Amino acid sequence: MSRAGLIIGGVSLIILGVSFGWGATRVTDKDLEEGELLYREACASCHGEDGKGQVPGLEIKVPPPDLTWCAFNSEEPDRDWILITAEGGPATGRSDVMPSFRDALTEDQIRQVVAYLRTFCTEDWPRGELNFPRPLVTEKAWPENEIVFTWNTARTPGDEQSTQFSWTLEKRVGPRGQVEVKFPFQINDPEGQGAVGGIGDVEAGIKYVLYDNLEQLFLSSGGLEVGAPTGSIRRGLGDGTTILSPFLAAGKAWGDLIGQGSFKFEYPVVTRRAPKALLYNLAFTYPILAVGRLTEGQVLLELNGKSEWGTEAPKHFQLSLTPGLRKALTRSGLWAAAVGVQVPVTGVRDVDYRVMGYLLYEYPPFRFGR
Ligand code: HEC
Repeated sequence: MSRAGLIIGGVSLIILGVSFGWGATRVTDKDLEEGELLYREACASCHGEDGKGQVPGLEIKVPPPDLTWCAFNSEEPDRDWILITAEGGPATGRSDVMPSFRDALTEDQIRQVVAYLRTFCTEDWPRGELNFPRPLVTEKAWPENEIVFTWNTARTPGDEQSTQFSWTLEKRVGPRGQVEVKFPFQINDPEGQGAVGGIGDVEAGIKYVLYDNLEQLFLSSGGLEVGAPTGSIRRGLGDGTTILSPFLAAGKAWGDLIGQGSFKFEYPVVTRRAPKALLYNLAFTYPILAVGRLTEGQVLLELNGKSEWGTEAPKHFQLSLTPGLRKALTRSGLWAAAVGVQVPVTGVRDVDYRVMGYLLYEYPPFRFGR
C-alpha cells in the first residue's frame, strides 16, 4: 500500500477507535407507550389510527402521508420530524394543515410521539439520520434518490485546462439497494490547440447497504461501477476500455461532526489502455449554519488519495486535500449545492488544482397508486 493509503488508513482506524460507543439517544419501550397514547390523542384524527393518513370524512386540502410506507417513513431524520411536529408544516416547507404542537406538547412528548411514528414502518430500512451530506469526491454509503450535476475543472502546470460536467441519476431499489447511471461531458483545452468536447465514458453502478446502525450512527455499503468506453480516446475524451470498479463506502457521525470514507479499485478490462487504480477518500463535514434544514450549511474537508500502476507510466500515488462548502438551497433541503478546490499535496503533480462542485436534487420517493 502506498503512503497515501497508509495515511488515510491510519486516520480511519483512529476514528473508528475513538468513535466506539458514540451514537444517538436510545428509544425505550416507555417512550413508545407514551408516544402511542399521544398519537391517538393528538395525531390520529388526521394521520389515522393505522398511520395511513386516510381518515374517512376528513376534509383537509393536503392529504397526510402514509406513515406505513417505509420509503417515506425512513427518509427524514428525527430532527426534521421533531421540528415539523413542534413548529408545524411550514417550518420545513410543508403545508400549514400540519399544525404546530409547540404549545400543546413538551419537548420530551414530541420526541416520544415521533419515535412512535417510526413504528408504522415494519420493515428494516436504513434511517434518514444516516443520509450524511454528500462530499465532493468521497462516495456516499447511503442509497439515494437523487439527480446530481457535477462539474470539475482541472488546471495543469502546462496551462492546459480540462473540464468535466456530468449528470447522474440515482434511484433506490428496495430497502437497501440503489442503481445509478452517469453521463459525463468532457471539454479538453490544450494550450493553443482549441477546445475539444464530447461525451466521455458513460457509467452504470449498483450499491447495497451492508450494515447500518442507527444508535451508532454508522452506515456502510458496497457496490460496483462499470464504465463503458463511449468517449473517443482519439480525442482524449475516454479511457478506451471498460473499467470495473468495486467499492466500499462508510459514514459515521459523532454529534455534528460527520466522517465518510470510500475505497475503490478501478480495473481496466484492456489493461494496456488505462492504469489500474486504487482510490481512497476520507471526508469530514461540520455544520456552520444549522437551524433545521432551512439554512443548513457545512464546511467540508476531504483527503483524496490515488495510486496508479500497470501501464507504461511508472507507478505513482497522489494525495490531495479538498476544502469546500456545502449548502441546502431550499427549505425542505431537497436542493443542495457544494463547491471546493482540490489541491495535490504529495506525489505527481499532473494538475495544479481542480475547482469542483455539484448541484443536487433529492427527489421524494414515489410509487404508483396508493
Ligand atoms: C389537522 C390535521 C393533522 C394533525 C392533527 C396532525 N397532522 Fe401531521 N400532517 C398533517 C398533514 C396534512 C401533513 C402533510 C403535510 C404536507 O405534506 O405538506 C402532515 C405531516 C406530518 C409530518 C411530516 C412528514 C413528512 O416527512 O413530510 C409529520 C412528522 C407529522 N405530520 C407528525 C404529526 C404528529 C406527531 C402529530 C400529532 C402530535 C400530527 N402530525 C398531527 C396533518 C395533521
